[in-house]
Amino acid sequence: MAQKWTPNSWRSKPIVQVPEYPDPNALKVVEERLASYPPLVFAGEARALKQQLGEVAEGDAFLLQGGDCAESFAEHGADNIRDFFRVFLQMSVVLTYAAAKPVVKVGRIAGQFAKPRSSDTETKDGEVLPSYRGDIINGIDFTPGERIPDPQRQVMAYRQSAATLNLLRAFAQGGFANLEHVHEWTLDFVKDSAMSERYQDLADRLGETMRFMKAIGFSAEQHQRLRETDFYTSHEALLLGYEEAMARIDSTSGDHYATSGHMIWIGDRTRQPDHAHVEFCRGVKNPIGMKCGPSLDPEELVKLTDILNPENEAGRLTLIARFGHEKVGDYLPNLIRAIEREGKKVVWSCDPMHGNTVSAGGYKTRPFDRVLTEVQEFFAVHRAEGTYPGGVHFEMTGKDVTECTGGAHAVTEEDLADRYHTHCDPRLNASQALELAFLIAELLKQDRDAGEPAIAASA
Ligand code: PEP
Ligand code: CO
Repeated sequence: MAQKWTPNSWRSKPIVQVPEYPDPNALKVVEERLASYPPLVFAGEARALKQQLGEVAEGDAFLLQGGDCAESFAEHGADNIRDFFRVFLQMSVVLTYAAAKPVVKVGRIAGQFAKPRSSDTETKDGEVLPSYRGDIINGIDFTPGERIPDPQRQVMAYRQSAATLNLLRAFAQGGFANLEHVHEWTLDFVKDSAMSERYQDLADRLGETMRFMKAIGFSAEQHQRLRETDFYTSHEALLLGYEEAMARIDSTSGDHYATSGHMIWIGDRTRQPDHAHVEFCRGVKNPIGMKCGPSLDPEELVKLTDILNPENEAGRLTLIARFGHEKVGDYLPNLIRAIEREGKKVVWSCDPMHGNTVSAGGYKTRPFDRVLTEVQEFFAVHRAEGTYPGGVHFEMTGKDVTECTGGAHAVTEEDLADRYHTHCDPRLNASQALELAFLIAELLKQDRDAGEPAIAASA
């Protein structure tokens, strides 16, 4: 029988990727203060997301999840949030149109601050310092002072998350996401690209549909679904002291929820079944994601699924495959077969970013072609297994950065130095993100046509 869970039961488990705070008392004071602050999200919202992800698990909706690798204090501004939201809405319209299914929109935003690192230290010119672990923990500048974990940063991250979420709610519900405004979402720097032309075409078609709908009595003024959207937040639940402080009992159900974001996920480096991160996540009722990389074997996956989703609830667990473009075909089928054999209900999502990182000229980058290939392979594997490719998970920004190479507006390795702003891994810029959405739309359309009666497919 499973041992009793409490918000702090993770503290008695082995843990990796944990920062060393020099003053545990100062940390405790901050955690207590955070525990007294208002929740960032409500349990009811997390339940609504779980229900929508349940539809994804059944093959009736598609998940789009994306945002920064690491949010930063320095890049916190209204323009960044708006531009991210715009490109996210564009992608979601492209995918909805192709799939002819609802797209569940989940940002890596308003809480995505803590980063697992491959090494505890970083060495530069002979100097060894603790690694940067995300703005919620320490500073990115390579100086001894900045790299000391500072608990006050958790309060700053909480406040930034609250402000970001406030703006996102306004964008999602205040008219910005109105489907009558699809033309206005295009970002200036994307305007002259081939991608923009393609998007304008689609927006024109949607505009026509909206006018028709209005003519027959379905206008955005009258119908909330046309003028508002559901947008959810997510992040890796890595910094467990912060997560524990933000865990609250929901008065409606009596259950514990993480109120730091709607969905939280467990990273590829912290998913050991008997460790702290799995322990924390098993007890909160939010939708949970788990990254699945090459080191995960099928039996362990089944075990983790039992721990994290003992009631086999559709929408509770999203498995985020991140193998790399050359490995996904080798590893994913066995995981899918184990899940199918055990009758587990999960969402399968594809993170084509984290298995495709390479270095070029001192920069970490990701070639667009490899990112695309991993998505295509992911779809092909599901097609072969007869299972549903439920979603995608990207690191992306609404800004015109040069962090990933390739794309129609080709970013070259020489361009990387131009606008390389990420605080951690390289992100798709807005045109690359939109281009990828169009390419995924083609895959969704193929699957849709394959699933429709012949008469509809030939129409
Ligand atoms: C991430 O999503 O930024 C990340 C660190 O991913 P993973 O755990 O898959 O390596
Ligand atoms: Co990352």
